[in-house]
Amino acid sequence: MAQATGLYTIRQCAGDLIELLQQHADNLALAEAEAIPVLQRLMRRSDMLDLGVKRDGNHTGESLWLYYDHDLCIMTARMPQGTAVPVHNHGTWEVVGVYRGAIKYTMYERADDRSQPHYAELRVTEDRIMRPLDVSICPPPPHDVHGFTALTDDTYIVAVVGGLYAPVRHYYNPQEKYYIERHQQAWRLGGQRSS
Ligand SMILES: [Fe+2]
Repeated sequence: MAQATGLYTIRQCAGDLIELLQQHADNLALAEAEAIPVLQRLMRRSDMLDLGVKRDGNHTGESLWLYYDHDLCIMTARMPQGTAVPVHNHGTWEVVGVYRGAIKYTMYERADDRSQPHYAELRVTEDRIMRPLDVSICPPPPHDVHGFTALTDDTYIVAVVGGLYAPVRHYYNPQEKYYIERHQQAWRLGGQRSS
C-alpha cells in the first residue's frame, strides 16, 4: 500500500541503512553524510508514529518499534518537556533524530585511557539544540556517549541502533569524572536491575 502512495517506507529506510552498513563495516558513523538524509527522508512522513508497535523504552514511557532485525533497530520515543536522558553509553553506535519538538543534545568522547574502573574523563564533541529533522550520530565504543533533555512537551525522537544495546551501561557524571554501571532498564524498572 505504501508503495502505491509513493511514501518512503520503513522497509526502504532500513534497506538503505543496511546497504550503507555493508559498505562501511557495520559502523553507520562512517557513513554519516549518506545516513543522515536517509533518516530525514523517513522523518518527513507525517504519519510515522502510526507505523510502530509498542516498545518498553529505557528512559521514556511511550516508545515504538519501527524496525527490528536484531542487527538494526529503528524506534521512536516520546519525551515530555524536561525529560532528561542522563549521559550514558550504549555498547554500539546510535543515531538520534528529532521528529517533533526539540532537545538539548550533548555528545562526548572518552578522553581518558579507560584503565581505571568508575573513572571517566569526557570531552564534549557536540553540544546543540536539535529541532525536527536534525540528526546526530553517536559513534561506536569507546566514544558512544551522549545525553539529552526534551525542551518541549511534545518532543518525539527517532533512534537507530546498530544491534542490541549492552545490557549494562555506564552512566556518567562528566563534572565529577566518574561513572556508575546500571542495567539499561534500571530507570524503567525503578532500580530493580541495577547490575
Ligand atoms: Fe543513547
